[in-house]
Amino acid sequence: MGLSERTESGKILQRVFEILIDFPEGLSIKELFSRLNPEPNQNGRAFYEWVMCSCIPPLKAGWLKSRGYYLSVSEEGRSAYEKFADPHTFIKEAAKHSTRGWLSLHFPRPYYVSGKAKDRIVSEIRFVRRVGVKRLATQAIGKVPDWHKVLPVQSVRRIKLADNILGSGKSLVEHFHKDKSSHYEGGHAIYLPPKTFQASILAEVSVQYPRSAGLKIIKTPGDVDQAAYVNIVNKGDSKLHLNSIHGHKHLTLVANLLHAKGVGARLFDLVEIEYGQDIWTAYVIEDADDGAPSMEQCRAGVARLQQLDAAGLLRVSAPEGFDDDEFRCPGCEGNAFIKDGQFTYVDFQNFLLGDYAAFLKTTAVEATEASHFGDRSILRGGTYLYQTVPGVNLPAKRNIDDREQVLMRLLRTADVSVKDRVVFDVGCNIGMMMALYLKMGARWAHGWDRPYVAPHTDKVLLALGCTRFSTTGTDINDSYDLTKDIPSFLASRLEGCVVSYLAVREHLGWLKALQQIPWAFLIYEGHEGETREDFESYIKNFKQIVPVEVAAVEDYFDGDSESRTLAILRRL
Ligand SMILES: C[S@@+](CC[C@H](N)C(=O)[O-])C[C@H]1O[C@@H](n2cnc3c(N)ncnc32)[C@H](O)[C@@H]1O
Repeated sequence: MGLSERTESGKILQRVFEILIDFPEGLSIKELFSRLNPEPNQNGRAFYEWVMCSCIPPLKAGWLKSRGYYLSVSEEGRSAYEKFADPHTFIKEAAKHSTRGWLSLHFPRPYYVSGKAKDRIVSEIRFVRRVGVKRLATQAIGKVPDWHKVLPVQSVRRIKLADNILGSGKSLVEHFHKDKSSHYEGGHAIYLPPKTFQASILAEVSVQYPRSAGLKIIKTPGDVDQAAYVNIVNKGDSKLHLNSIHGHKHLTLVANLLHAKGVGARLFDLVEIEYGQDIWTAYVIEDADDGAPSMEQCRAGVARLQQLDAAGLLRVSAPEGFDDDEFRCPGCEGNAFIKDGQFTYVDFQNFLLGDYAAFLKTTAVEATEASHFGDRSILRGGTYLYQTVPGVNLPAKRNIDDREQVLMRLLRTADVSVKDRVVFDVGCNIGMMMALYLKMGARWAHGWDRPYVAPHTDKVLLALGCTRFSTTGTDINDSYDLTKDIPSFLASRLEGCVVSYLAVREHLGWLKALQQIPWAFLIYEGHEGETREDFESYIKNFKQIVPVEVAAVEDYFDGDSESRTLAILRRL
């Protein structure tokens, strides 16, 4: 039901309350209807069903009481009636109290019986069965889980195109729509495979990502919060389905989850492309270029997706579920491909996140043993995380939110920023500082840690919705050459990059490789138990490798850690 229809239902409901309030003992439904006075030309049965359907939310909320054929207003109902003067708010607030009430507001009886929308009704009911009433009601009642508010952590990059690259009068989407070069156009998006992307007017964007990156441009204009994925509604499409498709930011979590589970392409970024007055949302995604799967590969791949659905990690949102053509092997309507021998399902908007809180927590707990670096804590129950994970309530030695505050202050004092810069995080642990740099707008973050830590870094970063990152799992020694691990597409972006060297000097010393990377500033953090004098002397040693000045410095505590010195070292 649309907003205006809900407002109309709210109005009729207010009228019902207005009448019933004068009859504390209750009024028969027949009497009530005679007082409601339908329009003479109104279909009596439809009017009756509409009014009764509008009464379900307040009945379920206990605002209305029914005794046989008699209706009356309860005390709560009277105060709600006085409190919510706006009709839409009135009925919406009533519907928040129960699933049945919510469903009746979204599936009013006349809508069921009109006969005109039978196929749509069937798809709505199937959709409700697939994703579960509880989920829809929770969504409507507005209980927002923690992760929902903070993920994805990474900020969206806005890429401004040079003026006039399109000539006059054309939009970006029209340009590709008419373009003769090889690309795919569907109802909702235009996909440019890597070669087309690299040769197109967006070549300057393509070089900022791995060579295997293709670009999927959403045809509905607008930034990531405005542009809807689906821009054509087909007859029979479930309205609830369309309303439930995640926004672009949460779709990055779906894409990352599919990738982490070995059935989805690697998402490199979600970007906003600005051209003149227009903004277009686009996904930079690894091309699955090894053709369509065989029947056998497809069946195994779809079975894997079904396992994820059965495990409650994802829900297929198409009303027909896995019976939908989008999952019919071998091609899945052009959504299934092979990449490096693996089945890859590219249309991530066909899924809703399941119990994401549980998934996030499991991912963080699995990282605990590998990531912990420091004391075991009896109070904390043995080994615990080194870095806190956003959206998960698990103890950790270091608190990323507190570190963010101090870091922001120092960056401001030093008058520098990581925005649009490549950041290298040496000894990155599970990557939560990388996630923070990406939140601050870093162009890309590459991290190094032990071979048994780095796979968890990848998993946790993906679970947080980070995409602009890469890692190297290795044991670093004095002569370790960091530069050989830097992804080749970053080579032309290194000037002015940033090095993050946090709580690692004691383990790695001052690496000579730091001379070879053309960083503009280095974010340094010392260790527990070190004094300011110790800091001065370590910096003196470092100056023999790379000339630097201390642009900002502060001592601080965070999490369970003792005081540490954090500093911004500017390269001279
Ligand atoms: C004290 S933790 C600091 C983590 C992170 N930089 C931070 O401040 O939150 C040190 C990290 O360096 C990693 N590390 C220590 N020695 C290493 C080595 N030789 N090679 C690779 N990683 C190492 C550890 O695995 C650990 O994640």
